[in-house]
Amino acid sequence: MNTTPFFLDAKPVSYLIGEQALDSSYRLVEKYPRYVLLVDDNTREHCLPVFREHLPELLSADVICIESGEQKKNLDQALFIWNELTRLNVDRDALMVNLGGGVLTDIGGFVAATYKRGIDFANVPTTLLGMVDASIGGKTGIDFGKFKNQVGLFVDPVAVIIDPVFLKTLEEKHWQSGFAEVLKYGLIMDRELWQWLYGKDYHEIDFWDKIIVRAARDKIDIVRHDFEEKGVRKNLNFGHTVGHAFESFFLKNNRPITHGQAIAAGMICEAYISEKLTDLECSHKEEIVEMIDKNFSRLSVTEEDVPMLFDLMRQDKKVREGKLRFSLLKRLGKAVHDKEVGTDVVLESLEFYMHDRSRL
Ligand code: GLY
Repeated sequence: MNTTPFFLDAKPVSYLIGEQALDSSYRLVEKYPRYVLLVDDNTREHCLPVFREHLPELLSADVICIESGEQKKNLDQALFIWNELTRLNVDRDALMVNLGGGVLTDIGGFVAATYKRGIDFANVPTTLLGMVDASIGGKTGIDFGKFKNQVGLFVDPVAVIIDPVFLKTLEEKHWQSGFAEVLKYGLIMDRELWQWLYGKDYHEIDFWDKIIVRAARDKIDIVRHDFEEKGVRKNLNFGHTVGHAFESFFLKNNRPITHGQAIAAGMICEAYISEKLTDLECSHKEEIVEMIDKNFSRLSVTEEDVPMLFDLMRQDKKVREGKLRFSLLKRLGKAVHDKEVGTDVVLESLEFYMHDRSRL
């Protein structure tokens, strides 16, 4: 079937999103005399052949391969890529194409933006999470010391090419992980998207192309208004203050969970806080909890884990003058940001998460 991908010229970025986007993407990047393709060990095996089949014009690109995984989003790997670019004599007129998930587009963008004071780069995300979130909005960087994304910069790619063709080889847990971020767009800004999804188990969904275009457009809309996260972009953090604490907690305990599992749990807690502090209707909170429980198992945390979760929350980038600030919901499809939240309400929300198991 022939479909036309969604095209948006949102200077300085060109977006091409949807089925067959890759096939028609050469026009976005044809002006470059040289291409370097950044892949990781997973995308080299599963996505590079697909990329080459659909974009044969870039067959001559040099390929740099890094190791996959969040724990590899570090300075050593950045050094490795800078060394490879130097060894290959890559000049400032080259385009670096980042083919991978969020870790790869983050580190690839960072290295490109700093190599020889910056070469252009394009993102071709290969995971659902990358497609609806990480590849869009110019957040690039690496983890440093104990902290995620501690070193980096906001810099836009010249093009983002989002083609669901790569999802054919996506592992189950990564579908679920990306789905949490899709739900989040419905909750913070797009009630219609929420209505498309509400009541569904993500396994049943058969209109991913439409969902990806919609969620990616929601994100583009936000970052066009607030690239450097001074205002409305903070709404994207709904579910993430508590969610990041869960993510770090399980990582420290050598039981890593996906970003989406953490954010789904965080959204339950933060929907509870929204009911208390920003007038989210109780029935809407219940709808959110029901939908998340349909798609995600509850994480196994107990009272004993609460102090550590609090410590982790206090390390969050959103903490100012020791106060926790959240992005919360006013209603389904409408978020507000910079809401100061007392520790008592956060504690209640964790209790709610651990003990309100009536629907499980
Ligand atoms: N992932 C959140 C943001 O891009 O701002």
